[in-house]
Amino acid sequence: MNDFLAMSEEQWQVLIDSAPECPDLGHSDMKADEIREDISRRLATKEYSDDEIKALLMAEGFDKLHATKVDQMTGRCLKFAERLSDRFISGEKTMAYLWGIRGTGKTQIAARVGFRMRKASQGVGRRVLVSEYLKLLKASYNGNMEQKQTIRNLTLRMENAPLLVLDEFTEIRGNEFEQEELTRIVDKRYGKMVPTLIIGNDKPEDAMNILGPSIWSRLQENGGLIECDWESYRGAGK
Ligand SMILES: Nc1ncnc2c1ncn2[C@@H]1O[C@H](COP(=O)(O)OP(=O)(O)OP(=O)(O)O)[C@@H](O)[C@H]1O
Ligand SMILES: [Mg+2]
Repeated sequence: MNDFLAMSEEQWQVLIDSAPECPDLGHSDMKADEIREDISRRLATKEYSDDEIKALLMAEGFDKLHATKVDQMTGRCLKFAERLSDRFISGEKTMAYLWGIRGTGKTQIAARVGFRMRKASQGVGRRVLVSEYLKLLKASYNGNMEQKQTIRNLTLRMENAPLLVLDEFTEIRGNEFEQEELTRIVDKRYGKMVPTLIIGNDKPEDAMNILGPSIWSRLQENGGLIECDWESYRGAGK
């Protein structure tokens, strides 16, 4: 297995920070963002086995439960995942909102999309729990330099990841602060035409209020409202 798979967030940052001094990467005249993209591109073109891709997904915020099941999916959920992956891979679509009741496989679809995109050499997707990210961001305002740097690195990675999955956004209230922070990230990605998948339990009319008008209009332009209207895979407990 590649060493990269065992790298922590901090080690990844060290690699990026040290890139300008590393002669074989030839980064001397590049800015941090360009270096990051260059490294991502190099990693994206590497050949990985299916198990290694699953490990990469886990390193990028997907749970083991979802990462290990990407090749065991069945039913309509799988069909949706395949269709969405194809559209993201071809560039036909760059944003989607996936919604439905709990347990319908939304996060599982996201993991499958990440898996398929990496198989198509488009890099590894990043999954972020929206409320956790916003909590960290708020805490960093009064935090030390290290905390500020950690959140800055995470934000940069969210802006640049080949696929960003904003999961469980239903947990947030959609106040001005939350909308502004998410809009800034989504807008950057929209401009770069890299795919963003937003996941929640809310119906579109409620989601619109939480996400705010800016993200919503971009979503509508992309035509990416996908309802998971089948039964929960979690069974009677739901
Ligand atoms: N197509 C599928 N085939 C088999 N199992 C699946 C499929 N889709 C999802 N599952 C399994 O069903 C369970 C629930 O899926 P998942 O966690 O993705 O639901 P969810 O819609 O994200 O729920 P929540 O809204 O609570 O976050 C998981 O164990 C997942 O691996
Ligand atoms: Mg989920």
